[in-house]
Amino acid sequence: MNPPDLLPILRYPDPRLHTVAKPVVAFDDRLRALIERMLATMYDASGIGLAATQVDVHERLVVIDVSETRDQPLVLVNPVIDWASAETRKGEEGCLSVPGIYDGVERSIAVKVRAQDAEGQSRVIEAEGMLAVCIQHEMDHLMGKVFVEYLSPLKRNRIKGKLLKSQREAQKA
Ligand code: NI
Repeated sequence: MNPPDLLPILRYPDPRLHTVAKPVVAFDDRLRALIERMLATMYDASGIGLAATQVDVHERLVVIDVSETRDQPLVLVNPVIDWASAETRKGEEGCLSVPGIYDGVERSIAVKVRAQDAEGQSRVIEAEGMLAVCIQHEMDHLMGKVFVEYLSPLKRNRIKGKLLKSQREAQKA
């Protein structure tokens, strides 16, 4: 079997990153193939999470792996946050759609999420630490929100300028 083809990742400030995703309705071969390709794309880019939005598929699907060993994929289809801790913490975040940029974002330190797996089975995941942060970050993508939108307009504009410049240079090269 060939490894799955990698998917191109949209880069901020691509306006498609602000699309609100629709629920996944069919748990079929197409969905399973998309999940495999998203996982391969995430691992190839050394990311810990990837939302379908980032590969220009506007459905409620995210893949995550926060393990050191990169062998514990978590697939969340149609995720819903049932509970988020009132206690928050500011931690450094990055994003495959915002390469080279890291900044602090305030997030709940723990969440309880209801989601389906690739087969459509429902389950509840209780997460804390890096996994809780990652779930919140990826679920923001499904709502069309990129983490830089939590930063000040000044910072965000600076990041936008920097990324547009590097995208122009990459096109010339
Ligand atoms: Ni991201």
